[in-house]
Amino acid sequence: EASKPLAGKKLLITAGPTVEPIDPVRYMSNHSSGKMGYAIAEQAKKAGAEVVLVSGPVTIPPPKGVKVIEVKQATEMMDAVMNELATSDIIIKSAAVADYRSKVVFDEKIKKNSEELILELKKNPDIAAEVGRVKRPDQMLIGFAAETEQVEQYAKGKLERKNMDLIIANDVTKPGAGFGTDTNIVTIYDRDGDKIELPQLSKQEVARHIVQVIGERLHART
Ligand code: PMT
Repeated sequence: EASKPLAGKKLLITAGPTVEPIDPVRYMSNHSSGKMGYAIAEQAKKAGAEVVLVSGPVTIPPPKGVKVIEVKQATEMMDAVMNELATSDIIIKSAAVADYRSKVVFDEKIKKNSEELILELKKNPDIAAEVGRVKRPDQMLIGFAAETEQVEQYAKGKLERKNMDLIIANDVTKPGAGFGTDTNIVTIYDRDGDKIELPQLSKQEVARHIVQVIGERLHART
């Protein structure tokens, strides 16, 4: 059916930030609101997909009819994604995953006894790269790239390195794009060097375009 291009497909999407604890009262995180990923979950559901949304802590309500798995840390997001991966046809990584976590999570609140405090960080697993490494040829991996400079070059680098099928780049320095806003300005890149540049649109409209592109590419494969 033309209006349900993702009918019969399972779409796994991550959204929101991850939250990396430091001590019982403190954490490291970022400004992701979950709006972009939640909009894709909603549009994919409308397009007929079975949707599983793995979400970091956000304040917006999930779309109706979508299975939500709530996580906090990147390591938990990784586990949730890996559990759902085998049965998923489309995997979209719109979450803003913290690249590092505190090497030690302190049992007690850190006291302000010294003028300087050094916190050691440890690299988090790269979930998208791991999915790219293990995915089957019939599975489609779509990533995001949040960049502040050299947007096209960095986005294409991530597309290749993480073995993604598509990457959606947002220049997060542009007003009306990126973290927290209701709109976004994105360019979609594929592995053949083709790109689709979208103007500033609501995140729901951006999501509708993304779902449409995915649908077209799935049908072109079969
Ligand atoms: O949530 P909103 O407020 O609506 O904002 C939307 C957004 C700006 C967060 C979203 O559009 C976006 O760009 N998400 C990806 C942000 C990001 O972390 O980009 P990155 O360039 O650091 O990572 C590249 C890709 O690898 C992403 O698909 C990311 O999910 C993935 N990644 C990164 C690090 C890591 N450890 N694991 C990952 O899977």
